[in-house]
Amino acid sequence: MTPALTAEEIREANTRYHDVAADHYDSKWGIDFGELGLGQVTSKLRKALGREPGCYARSLEIGAGTGYFTLNLLRAGLIGEATCSDISPGMLETLAENARALGHTVSTVAADAERLPFADGSFELVLGHAVLHHIPDLPRAFTEFARVLAPGGTVVFAGEPSRYGDRLATVPKRAAGALAPVWRRAIGASAAPVIDADDGDVALEGLVDVHAFSPRELSSVARGAGLQDVRVSGEELVANWFGWTNRTLEATAVPEEVPWAWRMYAYRGYLALQELDRRLLESRLPPAIFYNLMLAADKPSTR
Ligand SMILES: C[S@@+](CC[C@H](N)C(=O)[O-])C[C@H]1O[C@@H](n2cnc3c(N)ncnc32)[C@H](O)[C@@H]1O
Repeated sequence: MTPALTAEEIREANTRYHDVAADHYDSKWGIDFGELGLGQVTSKLRKALGREPGCYARSLEIGAGTGYFTLNLLRAGLIGEATCSDISPGMLETLAENARALGHTVSTVAADAERLPFADGSFELVLGHAVLHHIPDLPRAFTEFARVLAPGGTVVFAGEPSRYGDRLATVPKRAAGALAPVWRRAIGASAAPVIDADDGDVALEGLVDVHAFSPRELSSVARGAGLQDVRVSGEELVANWFGWTNRTLEATAVPEEVPWAWRMYAYRGYLALQELDRRLLESRLPPAIFYNLMLAADKPSTR
């Protein structure tokens, strides 16, 4: 999966790709800062920790994007002082606008996860969502996370692609690709113009994802950085298959011609299946088969 790029080229591709994505990121991924987003984020934190979350005085988010995690956790009253870092200044600009609109104060810092410009022991919580798979040198990044954490502090990452889950997701993607012409006819939409794979944004998309993980790899990188009580869990199985099927179908049609009723069906269906995964499957099946992995670990109280 890792393309033949240097670490510096991967970081540069991530910066450019996410700078361009910043404007439409929230609508593309359905990022929500209302009750729905707050519920999603607190539920992910609870699942990753395996218990009710406490309150964290100072938090640092890595690859914070437009603020999905930090802003929702601020709304939930689970963090006091929030710092958001990201390699993409464009994403941080959107995050600052979102924070202003919600009336929250957040400090934003453009930084690479592998070189954090913070003093040792600065935060009680270091967190991230859907970011580890973009980072070239993970052991180095985790050493940084452990360094900036206060003794006894906690690391939480969620939304990381699992290697096996990623492979399983190719089945609905392929099936949806084959069914797309029939689906478009059924909803009365025309085919989207074919996008040139060498086009800037599209070409970069293939370069920014550099890892998919097994649970064991994720725990060993955390342990290697001196973290303890490492916990890896899995999230989303059928919701993910459903989501990929719909996203693959939708990508083949002219967006304005996809009926609202279909979009509502896809959105509500996804939420319902997330609930099914949560209630029935996540506690019963091995983490490796889920599409997303989550990790929680602590820095020892005295080092
Ligand atoms: C998929 S987005 C996730 C954004 C946000 N956490 C969310 O869940 O909506 C990944 C984010 O990681 C950032 N990123 C990629 N490589 C990074 C690196 N080496 N250091 C810090 N941030 C990075 C990107 O700029 C982008 O904002």
